[in-house]
Amino acid sequence: MALWGGRFSRQPAQSVAALSRSVDFDWRLAPYDIKVNLAHLDGLVAAGVIAAGNGEVIRAGLKALGSEIVTGKFTYNDNDEDVHSAIERGLITKIGAIGGALRAGRSRNDLVVTDFKLYLIDHLLEIAALTTDLIAAFNVQSEKLVEVIAPGFTHLQHAQPIVFGHELAKHSQALLRDVDRIGDWIVRNNFSPLGSGALAGSGLQPNPEASAQSLGFDGVLANSIDAVSDRDFAAEALFIMAMLGVHLSRIGEEFTLWSTTEFAWVVIDDAYSTGSSIMPQKKNPDIAELARGKSGRLIGNLTALLATLKGLPFAYNRDLQEDKEPTFDSVETLLVLLPALTGMVETAKFNTKTISNEAHSGFALATEIADYLAKKSIPFAAAHGAAGECVKLCESSGIELHELTEAQLQAIHPELKSDLKVFLTTAGAVASRTSSLGTSISSVTKQIADLKTATAEAKGWISNEVARFSGMMTP
Ligand code: ARG
Repeated sequence: MALWGGRFSRQPAQSVAALSRSVDFDWRLAPYDIKVNLAHLDGLVAAGVIAAGNGEVIRAGLKALGSEIVTGKFTYNDNDEDVHSAIERGLITKIGAIGGALRAGRSRNDLVVTDFKLYLIDHLLEIAALTTDLIAAFNVQSEKLVEVIAPGFTHLQHAQPIVFGHELAKHSQALLRDVDRIGDWIVRNNFSPLGSGALAGSGLQPNPEASAQSLGFDGVLANSIDAVSDRDFAAEALFIMAMLGVHLSRIGEEFTLWSTTEFAWVVIDDAYSTGSSIMPQKKNPDIAELARGKSGRLIGNLTALLATLKGLPFAYNRDLQEDKEPTFDSVETLLVLLPALTGMVETAKFNTKTISNEAHSGFALATEIADYLAKKSIPFAAAHGAAGECVKLCESSGIELHELTEAQLQAIHPELKSDLKVFLTTAGAVASRTSSLGTSISSVTKQIADLKTATAEAKGWISNEVARFSGMMTP
């Protein structure tokens, strides 16, 4: 049943109905649509547009319909255009023509954007909670491996030794920023568009402030034209999800690389690996690869919405219906990906011997020589040059830096004394980096303790927000 048609003399062509129909995907908004309808009903009753007795009948009908949507007893049919028309049909079937009274003082333009915002609040919080699980998995592994010395890379070449807990904890830091962004998103976007009507507000005065409050919003948007056309909140959500996806892709790439025979740093648990249909010996890091691959569609979804919004006139245009599929896709991609990746990280076994074995190689301690000279007030440019000569000599004679004789060192720079050897160990190099962000075991131990506190705090605010909104959400 269409929500319009009075001025038309013909039904829409079948091709038009097929193009226009959104219910196959926007049905995800059904629970939110019931909630928004209930809040709007209160406003209409308070304004005297719907008599109190009729209000009770409509309320009971909406609540019953809400439960049937949850259990699957009520759903859309082939003739429904969108979630809003399906729900109005369901209500009228249940309580009769009075069900049509709810359409007063609102339009699908403010209804759909309110539903969509509530959907995003709910689902971004779910994504935030799953992200903290992944952070917690990294925190545990970082703590376990905080004393394992590893080669640190730049340009994927050995650069300087680090502790492996430092390497893993970096992922917790990046992911915590993603969770923070979700918190910021709620603070900035938790304002209601309901009451905007089609674009101009409503003369029936259904009290936007009261409905905003009952839906859990922190207030009402200030401009009805902006309110029905604003999809910044969706674009921001898609950015947050794309950025998170990019972080997951970098984790995926690392685990893929580390699990190769050449690296053999990590063994991915059988439960988080897959096999080959032709090569019986194969165990492939498909979860890590999917984490890397899914970032493509998450980025694509963000650009799809931005392209839809670019140059769009304000107020409502049907183009805006294109906001939903990319958003649902990003949400649903992450809801599947995050738990799998968390399981992979939790169960991964790191081969600490292999990780440490090559920590010194590739002349990874050359910076220690330059730093040793710099501490003796040799200008760093000269210190760097002398350390470079040490590397050149080692390379041509096939030895490591710590194997240079005192005579060889002295020939390169008179300040290179035998006590340099103390610094030419990976343990010494790591231990010297005691500043707060550095790679010494003590600094990284402190960093991981701080991460654990921040993770617990994030879990705390997320469950507070979930409680705040779920009280509002259940019809
Ligand atoms: N399905 C539409 C959407 O998602 C609902 C709003 C339709 N409004 C309209 N004026 N045609 O945007």
